[in-house]
Amino acid sequence: MFCLQSATDSEWLALVIANTDKLLADHAYCEQKAAASAMSLINKYPDDPFLVKAMLKLAHEELEHFELLYDLLQQRGIPLGAIDKDPYVAELLPLCRKHGKDALVDRLLVASLIEARSAERFRLLADHLPDEELRAMYKDLFITESRHHTVFVNLAANYAPKEDVKARLEELSKQEAEIVARLPVAPRMH
Ligand SMILES: [Fe+2]
Ligand SMILES: [Fe+2]
Repeated sequence: MFCLQSATDSEWLALVIANTDKLLADHAYCEQKAAASAMSLINKYPDDPFLVKAMLKLAHEELEHFELLYDLLQQRGIPLGAIDKDPYVAELLPLCRKHGKDALVDRLLVASLIEARSAERFRLLADHLPDEELRAMYKDLFITESRHHTVFVNLAANYAPKEDVKARLEELSKQEAEIVARLPVAPRMH
């Protein structure tokens, strides 16, 4: 799916179906972190109006998703709990090159991969969760996060030739698939 080079293991799906409350709390944090990450790009590149506008729009949408998930947790009596480090994102971020335009291109492409993996999993949840309300929610979220994946890839193409972006996305997605395969399966979004 998208640029992903591996499909999520069915073991993950079975685990999150058995631990849906944990998945929902983790998912709420993922949305909050997606908004924070968009804001941090604005802080880092304040003189790039194109990037600032795109990230502002994205941050709004991710905050809306966070609110959606937070309200759902409240309705269901599930505590949000303390934020914990996302091991998947912690392994992806160091893959980014460190300087100049390359750093920005990589940061955008890593974000595109996180969106793609999330969307891939939302699709699985929309198709397989036993809870009808959640299936409908994940169907909607699948559409938005798929679009976010494309937003980030298109943005990256403003800072490097299209062929370079494509080749780099291919490299990073190969590493993303290795990270997913290496990390233990847990009842969380990634
Ligand atoms: Fe989102
Ligand atoms: Fe997103």
